[in-house]
Amino acid sequence: MSLIFLILLIFNILIEPCKLKVNATELSYRKINERAEIDKVTKFVDPLIGTQNEGHVFPNPCLPYGVVKVGFDTDDIKDNHAGYTVNGSITGISHLHVSGTGGEPKYGVISQFPLTSTSLYTIPLHNYTSLRSFEHFEVGYSKFGLKRYNVTIELTAARRTGVHSSRYRGGSIYSVSPSQITGVGHYSGGWNEGSKYTVYFCSQFNKNASSFGTFWKSFINENATFLSSFDIPFDTPAIGAVLGFDFDSNMDESGYQACKSAQEEVPNFDFEKTRELAVNAWETELSKIRVDGGEVGSDLKTIFYSSLYRTMIIPSDRTGENSKWSSYDNEGKLVPNYDDLYTLWDTFRTTIPLFTLFQQSRVIDITRSLIDIYQHEGYMPDGRSGMSNGITQGGSNADMVVAEVFLKNLGDNNNAINWTLAYEALLKDAEHDPWERGIFEGRMFLPYYKLLGYIPFPTYKTLSYAYVPCSKTIEYSTNDWSIALVAKKLNKTDDYIKYHSRAKNWENLWYPNMTVKGAKGFILPRFINGSFDTSWNVFNTTGYTPYYEGSAWEYSLDILHDVKRLIYLAGGPQAFERRLDKTFKDKTYLTPYFYIGNEPDFFHPCLYHFIGKQWKSAKLIRDILKRKYGKEPGGIPGNDDSGAMGSWFVFHAMGIYPMAGQDIYLINSPHFSNVTIYLSPNATFTILAKNQSTENIYVQSVKINGVNWNKTWFRHQDIKNGGILEVEMGDEVSTTWGVINGVNGESVVPPSMSDY
Ligand SMILES: *[C@@H]1O[C@H](CO)[C@@H](O)[C@H](O)[C@H]1NC(C)=O
Ligand SMILES: *[C@@H]1O[C@H](CO)[C@@H](O)[C@H](O)[C@H]1NC(C)=O
Ligand SMILES: *[C@@H]1O[C@H](CO)[C@@H](O)[C@H](O)[C@H]1NC(C)=O
Ligand SMILES: *[C@@H]1O[C@H](CO)[C@@H](O)[C@H](O)[C@H]1NC(C)=O
Ligand SMILES: *[C@@H]1O[C@H](CO)[C@@H](O)[C@H](O)[C@H]1NC(C)=O
Ligand SMILES: *[C@@H]1O[C@H](CO)[C@@H](O)[C@H](O)[C@H]1NC(C)=O
Ligand SMILES: *[C@@H]1O[C@H](CO)[C@@H](O)[C@H](O)[C@H]1NC(C)=O
Ligand SMILES: *[C@@H]1O[C@H](CO)[C@@H](O)[C@H](O)[C@H]1NC(C)=O
Ligand SMILES: *[C@@H]1O[C@H](CO)[C@@H](O)[C@H](O)[C@H]1NC(C)=O
Ligand SMILES: *[C@@H]1O[C@H](CO)[C@@H](O)[C@H](O)[C@H]1NC(C)=O
Ligand SMILES: *[C@@H]1O[C@H](CO)[C@@H](O)[C@H](O)[C@H]1NC(C)=O
Ligand SMILES: *[C@@H]1O[C@H](CO)[C@@H](O)[C@H](O)[C@H]1NC(C)=O
Repeated sequence: MSLIFLILLIFNILIEPCKLKVNATELSYRKINERAEIDKVTKFVDPLIGTQNEGHVFPNPCLPYGVVKVGFDTDDIKDNHAGYTVNGSITGISHLHVSGTGGEPKYGVISQFPLTSTSLYTIPLHNYTSLRSFEHFEVGYSKFGLKRYNVTIELTAARRTGVHSSRYRGGSIYSVSPSQITGVGHYSGGWNEGSKYTVYFCSQFNKNASSFGTFWKSFINENATFLSSFDIPFDTPAIGAVLGFDFDSNMDESGYQACKSAQEEVPNFDFEKTRELAVNAWETELSKIRVDGGEVGSDLKTIFYSSLYRTMIIPSDRTGENSKWSSYDNEGKLVPNYDDLYTLWDTFRTTIPLFTLFQQSRVIDITRSLIDIYQHEGYMPDGRSGMSNGITQGGSNADMVVAEVFLKNLGDNNNAINWTLAYEALLKDAEHDPWERGIFEGRMFLPYYKLLGYIPFPTYKTLSYAYVPCSKTIEYSTNDWSIALVAKKLNKTDDYIKYHSRAKNWENLWYPNMTVKGAKGFILPRFINGSFDTSWNVFNTTGYTPYYEGSAWEYSLDILHDVKRLIYLAGGPQAFERRLDKTFKDKTYLTPYFYIGNEPDFFHPCLYHFIGKQWKSAKLIRDILKRKYGKEPGGIPGNDDSGAMGSWFVFHAMGIYPMAGQDIYLINSPHFSNVTIYLSPNATFTILAKNQSTENIYVQSVKINGVNWNKTWFRHQDIKNGGILEVEMGDEVSTTWGVINGVNGESVVPPSMSDY
């Protein structure tokens, strides 16, 4: 009997020096909470949250922002975006995954597969998959059994591959020997239909295998040391290499020993050490936010830290692994490179803003990477994976990231970011039509937007996935406001005036004369001749519509940068309040009025702030968190989208919420009595909520850094060097705090563009 390792190149991109340990006997493992010290936060992370119900979360081990995400893949096609599904057979263990994504899967599949067989020739190559006998997941570690082969596998992760062979063109197994397999895999396609990229691999075994060979389809070529995909018919499902390690008479024990030698004694690889480093790396990042005093006996802390964890699975930090170019900064250091931005349309709203609090150096690096991509490819990306851009779903939302980082004064120390260059990148988006590349970068149909002030509804061709004139017009306007704010701070007055004016463009799609369910005025499709499509059904989300993944009702509330003007156009505060009440009436939050499972509606629960009814936002947000988030595998309301769903929860549990692309946070309803965010090694921002509980959900009074605070919002400036936000909570709506036109005529509601 041999324990055989199949190395399948079919999908196989990358194999590290086998970070895979096989223990043929069952282990009684210790749970992490028994091992962890009392104050560790990693013990609150459940990697399985979000793996079902279309969450598409990757539960297997990885490092924060690590390139390598080792995990098993299954043959269950449904919801198999991150390799894992709860049902289905295991098809292999692969090294690159994404997390939380929608659309088509990317990476995935790939394979290294350990199995037992009496010889190379008895491997069931036509179908070697296996059901699981059990599975177990922790931060930095997973363990599962292959039922069919009675094999237990444990996985852990390191940041990236160790050994790369020299460059070799072609999809090939370069060499097979009893102790080593090297080769190269090409890959392209997936969600973004990305261009081809190449990964080299080297799998090294310290113990010699007793048999080896290559295979394709179900043909084994024993002793073969080379196989190229160019040597076999096109469309062939697999090429691969195979190594067999003998068991001795006592099968289990020696089988284990063989694998132990083969796997663990690879130079510089130590499973337990790697695992410990992985857990420590997560502990370091996760404990940059500490929470205390949530509802007693609730799952809040588990949901909180699991959500926070998911914001750091992707993007992947590929610094030093960029195969397309190498950039060095003025100090001769490599410019950071981030991939699997999947997508900024999802993450600009809450994930990136969360990074500006607890991952400041990371978000500076991400911004530098965006600008570096601009320098080499002409535009900043919106979605990117495998070093290729995906479709731009809405606006050029990298603008929001750059603007927010700039307005929050991040990256000013040591001139980490060249703002001259960054501003150039913003103007490129705003001014230069990417033509046929418009689906991947920049702003599609920019000439229309500049000329007409909106993107027209087509009369001559059908809509497509990416051609969403209404939501694009809205997002371009919001992008323009962020650029205007940057221009203002750079003292570029002419540009400020220009983009301030352009940021009003969404109003060109506002059709005032339509009333639906008591709501008057909607963003509607508009033809090139200026007339509106007044027959448009504002609840229609079926097929390709002019709104990206949302209804006209939803998008007509999605004017992040000028809510004040929106309220005016929608008939004033009372009419707007009725409209919001209608929007949130259905407590499933699944209606065409409001859908919490996708990003376009992320900001909408905060809209009550702008009519001086912060308390309604507070109450609503508490309810959404309670109803829509849980600690089950299906416990998040939609695709996690690279942690977007998670970061939305994290902000609201902390009791604040960002206005993306700006330097503003709203105050809502803290769920913990103490949240401490480590902004930097020297600065903490603490949110203390006195008397908060399930009943005491309303803010009574606020102090920031000891000073009474009447506004329902604050600026990053107010806390950037550290600070304390003290919130007094109660069970009744305050009649004094958060009410419009407080003393001194100071506006307590957050600013809108029309205020400037
Ligand atoms: C493998 O399993 C055996 C039997 O349970 C156990 O004694 C041994 O410690 C395990 N090895 C590792 C590395 O976990
Ligand atoms: C997994 O299989 C079980 C048993 O057949 C079934 O009840 C469950 O709905 C399946 N889950 C998913 C997410 O497909
Ligand atoms: C592969 O083999 C497994 C286990 O023997 C079996 O359950 C499964 O149906 C097979 N799949 C295919 C596609 O033949
Ligand atoms: C291996 O087989 C034994 C005996 O049937 C069983 O108890 C054990 O759970 C199996 N392990 C795996 C990983 O399937
Ligand atoms: C492969 O090499 C081994 C060892 O030299 C030998 O015993 C075996 O017969 C060879 N197999 C084939 C198919 O040539
Ligand atoms: C910043 O970028 C601008 C525009 O490319 C360039 O002219 C300038 O030299 C850069 N500044 C630094 C300090 O690198
Ligand atoms: C803009 O002008 C203000 C006031 O004159 C000045 O303090 C600031 O440094 C200027 N900013 C830049 C980027 O030049
Ligand atoms: C809306 O109705 C008013 C009053 O009937 C009319 O004056 C106005 O032109 C209409 N607006 C549009 C955009 O059709
Ligand atoms: C919704 O929009 C799609 C795509 O434009 C269209 O085919 C469909 O008829 C519309 N449905 C309704 C109810 O208006
Ligand atoms: C809040 O939590 C932080 C971090 O755990 C701690 O240092 C601080 O003393 C706490 N503050 C209060 C008022 O409990
Ligand atoms: C933090 O404080 C230390 C010691 O006071 C200082 O050396 C360091 O520069 C500070 N770091 C930052 C990021 O301000
Ligand atoms: C805040 O409101 C309180 C009570 O309404 C009032 O006494 C105080 O002057 C206000 N402070 C400011 C800065 O407006």
